[in-house]
Amino acid sequence: MKKRPVFRTELCDILGVEYPVMLAGMGTAGGYTLTAAVSNAGGLGMLGATFLWPEELRSWIRKIRSLTDKPFGVDILLPASIPKDFDLDKLKDYIPQEHTEFIRKMARDFGVEGAKMKEWPISEEFGRSQFQVVKEEKVPFFALGLGTPDWLIPEAHEAGIKIVSLVGNVRNAVRIKKMGADIIIAQGHDAGGHTGRIGTFALVPQVVDAVAPTPVVAAGGIADGRGLVAALALGAIGAWCGTAFLATHECFWDFAELGMLNKPTIEAYYRKLIECDEEAEQISRIYSGKTTRAFRNMLNEAWEKSGLKTLPMPLQSMLVSDLLQGMMEKGEAEYYPMFAGQITGLIKKIRSSQEVMDDIIGGAVEIMQKQFPSEVTVKS
Ligand SMILES: Cc1cc2nc3c(=O)[nH]c(=O)nc-3n(C[C@H](O)[C@H](O)[C@H](O)COP(=O)(O)O)c2cc1C
Repeated sequence: MKKRPVFRTELCDILGVEYPVMLAGMGTAGGYTLTAAVSNAGGLGMLGATFLWPEELRSWIRKIRSLTDKPFGVDILLPASIPKDFDLDKLKDYIPQEHTEFIRKMARDFGVEGAKMKEWPISEEFGRSQFQVVKEEKVPFFALGLGTPDWLIPEAHEAGIKIVSLVGNVRNAVRIKKMGADIIIAQGHDAGGHTGRIGTFALVPQVVDAVAPTPVVAAGGIADGRGLVAALALGAIGAWCGTAFLATHECFWDFAELGMLNKPTIEAYYRKLIECDEEAEQISRIYSGKTTRAFRNMLNEAWEKSGLKTLPMPLQSMLVSDLLQGMMEKGEAEYYPMFAGQITGLIKKIRSSQEVMDDIIGGAVEIMQKQFPSEVTVKS
């Protein structure tokens, strides 16, 4: 058996893993298979559980445990701005008529009227019910994109669960540190999915300085050993990688079991990941009301041209969800929201998670042991 290189930071001790690499939480992409595969490859797998109902989440956690005995975590999106009690029918009344008509017309034009996305009641209550499962199943890490509610951290700590919070600026990093988050993910503008305004290179050192000694992990545009070493040089203790693991055989397919994806859409996603360069994405608010980086497509372009004002979360996702489901079911893959980061130009083929991890770690070892000592002269 090939000897595995040693590449450790403090993050390995905090997470109980071999390598300082975390799989980014990715709803509708990173299911139980990918989570277990990344944990087995030496990193920390992170289940993208945003769209999972509590019993689905429980079943997927158990599936992960049947595939690995290594640690892993669960990630959800819980926006701070959502209403406390979610009454779907009442909220729908706040969607302006012209918005509804625009989306209806698109659905008519594409022959996808009547499609229904599986209900996803974005609410604090729903987040609570997901957390309850994480607690009952004794998952050691719980990650949150978009917001971390006040009640969560004390309850998680009482249950022995560590909280991992994503931030996109220093102000939120300081706030989350004061609340007691265990690990802060400084996620730069380069990232796929929901993303902020500050680039990874500028964000990471500023967050590191502002929240020390709370551990900071860098995210956004890290897909090989160069990115990992750069993240460490900026003061982070590891990397949180999304786009790099999207381009793996283990990604996506679990969500087809739940009807959220299908074969043509997954194949088109893989094709885009391989073919597209760093300019192929665009930031749009069409999908959720918040800025999201996804491959540019006819749908987000039509939205930008429409001149319609984006609605706040969760109204915007309620507006477009059935249309997106219809596009996916019909195989109109070009219209499906394919989130991806600016690092896509680096992706040349679909690999296994183990190969991606070997590449990241092998590249980082090479830089630290051979490249730096031969190219950089250091004296003190
Ligand atoms: C397909 C996709 C789905 C995502 N979904 C989520 C999510 O559900 N929860 C979350 O916290 N972040 C989500 N993100 C953001 C990632 O957690 C992560 O911050 C980002 O992928 C890092 O940048 P990178 O893609 O350049 O590696 C998503 C990203 C992608 C690409």
